[in-house]
Amino acid sequence: MATNRTFTMLKPDAVRKGYIGAILEQITASGFRIVAMKLTELTVNDAKTFYEVHKERPFYNDLVEYMTSGPIVAAILEKENAVEDFRTLIGATNPEEAAEGTIRQKFATSISENAVHGSDSDENAAIEGAFHFSGREQF
Ligand code: CMP
Repeated sequence: MATNRTFTMLKPDAVRKGYIGAILEQITASGFRIVAMKLTELTVNDAKTFYEVHKERPFYNDLVEYMTSGPIVAAILEKENAVEDFRTLIGATNPEEAAEGTIRQKFATSISENAVHGSDSDENAAIEGAFHFSGREQF
């Protein structure tokens, strides 16, 4: 099951701008099934833990501040080849480099405020999904 699932967050800039509906529409129209979802807000501790792999990066503190600046939508998505196909759907980290029609190209503000997160491996998808959802919140 884990190999067919990925984890996403619609980040504070996308939620603030009212893009939840449009982004979810693009995700489901692209063949992903939502198996868990919530509107929530990360604490500073949550954001630090979630992004711990980036803690030596120069943008880490700004990333934590941004990710705690307002509500996010967290979701687990299911589809064959979910991790890779979702990363294709969202486009490059930097929206200026994201392919035409991708979610980041359409909805992101900047490289740091880039509208959506997508897991980078099956292993991280499982870890990130479990960070936000208990087993009985996944369908
Ligand atoms: P995400 O895919 O959620 O994973 C790490 C996040 O760090 C990334 O999206 C961006 O929001 C942010 N990020 C990555 N690279 C940079 C960068 N060079 N400058 C600022 N923020 C970045």
